[in-house]
Amino acid sequence: MHRFLDLADFSRDEIVSLLELARRLETHPEPRALAGRILGLVFFNPSLRTLASFQAGMARLGGSSFVVTPGQGTWQLETQLGAIMNGAAAEHVREGLPVLASYCDALGIRAFAEGKDLARDLAESQFGAMAEVIDKPLINLESAMNHPCQSLADWKTMDDLEVPRHAKFVLSWVQHPRALPLAVPSATVHMAAMRGMEVVVLRPDGYALPPAVMAKARAAAAVSGGSVRETSERSDALAGAQVIYAKEWGSTTHYGDAEGDAMLRARLADWCVTPQWFEPADPDCRLMHCLPVRRNVAITDAVLDGPRSIVRHEAYNRMTAQMAVLHRMLSQGA
Ligand code: CP
Repeated sequence: MHRFLDLADFSRDEIVSLLELARRLETHPEPRALAGRILGLVFFNPSLRTLASFQAGMARLGGSSFVVTPGQGTWQLETQLGAIMNGAAAEHVREGLPVLASYCDALGIRAFAEGKDLARDLAESQFGAMAEVIDKPLINLESAMNHPCQSLADWKTMDDLEVPRHAKFVLSWVQHPRALPLAVPSATVHMAAMRGMEVVVLRPDGYALPPAVMAKARAAAAVSGGSVRETSERSDALAGAQVIYAKEWGSTTHYGDAEGDAMLRARLADWCVTPQWFEPADPDCRLMHCLPVRRNVAITDAVLDGPRSIVRHEAYNRMTAQMAVLHRMLSQGA
């Protein structure tokens, strides 16, 4: 495996095989598998799980890692092509990233959406320009529209807990003080469709996922035997749900317009997951969220601290799933 940028770059069978490797490494650890191998991690945006789980996973396989957060102890890196660099950034990613890649065997990059131009973010213009200058194996640590490591961990979490392949999976918009990127919801709807689930995207008006995102998920569902639909009707979506995956994201009708988005979301305070959300759901319905989460804004304490919540299991699986990616990418004979 040379790149891990999008689950859609792999067949369903390839993802299933990667998850089998993750389970094998859990039960049969290989503490020397990546001895002498180095992973570079570049974070243009904050992280808790991605940063710590990659470093821990690499160490558990016998490798090592370094972390660069541009502008925090290192030179600030310019990402815009054609920029006249007379501002804060001392170095361009076109020099900085190949230099970092030359020090390691694989590089991971986190670069969130610019959040101004939806078409540009959908095209992954910024991440694509960075990927272009790197000749080493590359991992997407969250880009404008994707978070494949989160999706792999979420898929594994549902397998671990024996959530049926064709279970009803509701990806629900939830409240947040400001607009957040579309990366996790876009990756999640695709992942669940690729797994073969009955996927419902529940979102208020103004927060529909872009048509290209829905079309990609529907294409995956057509192959896996799943389905994908969207609604703004909570009771319809939640009836019989076996998984509620809560996620915050910004308005797509007011993309890049913080004021317009704020006016819309001001009326949506009740989009916070409470125990009542589970009343029409399946009795065993689980609550998923990628974290970080704002308690009592997106999800209430009662749900997060209750037996339905599997958010910590998801976060733990960031490490186990990524270890499989690293192993396949960097072990001898890979
Ligand atoms: N879910 C996730 O990617 O967490 P971090 O932002 O903390 O890495």
